[in-house]
Amino acid sequence: MRNWFCNKSNNKNSVNMEDRIISPSSKDEDIKIDSSIRPKKMADFVGQKKVKQNLDIFMTAAKKRGEPIEHVLFYGPPGLGKTTLSHIIAAEMNANVRITSGPAIERSGDLAAILTNLADGDVLFIDEIHRLNKVVEEILYPAMEDFALDLVVGKGPSARTLRIDLPKFTIIGATTRYNLISSPLRDRFGSTWRLDFYTDEDIAKIIQRAAKILNFNIDEDSSKTIASRARKTPRIAIRLLKRVRDFADIKNKGKINSSVSQEALAMLDVDHLGLDEIDRRILQIIIEKFKGGPVGLNTLAASIGEDIGTLEDIYEPFLMQLGFLSRTPKGRTVTESAYKHLDIIPPVEQQKNLL
Ligand SMILES: Nc1ncnc2c1ncn2[C@@H]1O[C@H](COP(=O)(O)OP(=O)(O)OP(=O)(O)O)[C@@H](O)[C@H]1O
Ligand SMILES: [Mg+2]
Repeated sequence: MRNWFCNKSNNKNSVNMEDRIISPSSKDEDIKIDSSIRPKKMADFVGQKKVKQNLDIFMTAAKKRGEPIEHVLFYGPPGLGKTTLSHIIAAEMNANVRITSGPAIERSGDLAAILTNLADGDVLFIDEIHRLNKVVEEILYPAMEDFALDLVVGKGPSARTLRIDLPKFTIIGATTRYNLISSPLRDRFGSTWRLDFYTDEDIAKIIQRAAKILNFNIDEDSSKTIASRARKTPRIAIRLLKRVRDFADIKNKGKINSSVSQEALAMLDVDHLGLDEIDRRILQIIIEKFKGGPVGLNTLAASIGEDIGTLEDIYEPFLMQLGFLSRTPKGRTVTESAYKHLDIIPPVEQQKNLL
């Protein structure tokens, strides 16, 4: 498998996010170990059973017909395995993969150059596909549907469209913001998959697997302890595992056990559900400033000092997954469980409104 070029933009994280140990977004420290730990085969990809089963069927059927698979779109919160699965598909289809991202393709000429250099069966992975600009996106429509590139030649009344045939390739798109993808683009994918948060058991398996690859032992209890705080996200689990290993190296001659894991995690200020200070602040602000909600997204983002995208992309999905936050037509509201988790008793007048 060849990787041709990589141009992943990282500006989706605010400064605040970069410092968080439990940020689900990729950090430099992750990239260093990423390639060794990232599963290369479907069999090594833990969890997401339904998605895997379906993809297996698609791939087997396409192989039988001797065709590339239809375009695939993955969406879901950061760190859940969209890029990993995309590469696994390319590997299992024995396809060359070219990697790019929405913001990296600035002009229609950039996309035309990429497309005309593809060969039959190649996979073009477009990360952050929601960030493609409109002009570029329109070039993609006939390319995806008819494997053709429509070029406008000349200007004014003498302008005409020239159609160039393209090889049969597969686009695999990944996004954390499905709602920002236009419907014509969505419609051109043969299948679309949402990656969900993992169960703690699956996260514990991912931790065990990563420890094996990194060549150290971790008992079941410790992997469960780390898993419970990893926000149901593989990337965070692997990062916490490395922190625990570093801590054990210094404090316990490299031996990881449950109490060393707990001690290490306590130092990171991540609570037993995986919430950190920023998550708790979000809930607290809604409770204290907005009487538990509903509060509009813009107002909430301004109160926390984060941009809307980060709030929607990074913080909210996990708080909603835990059932601490809910999106209502009028805005964001905290739930009774959030009050309980923060050990706050809701005022009487708010109690009847609680979800
Ligand atoms: N199902 C899984 N089994 C084992 N490891 C996994 C799994 N999913 C993800 N990982 C690990 O987690 C890391 C992050 O996954 P990946 O980069 O694929 O996430 P992503 O969804 O593409 O995130 P982003 O939205 O930030 O691009 C990978 O390096 C990989 O090692
Ligand atoms: Mg990715």
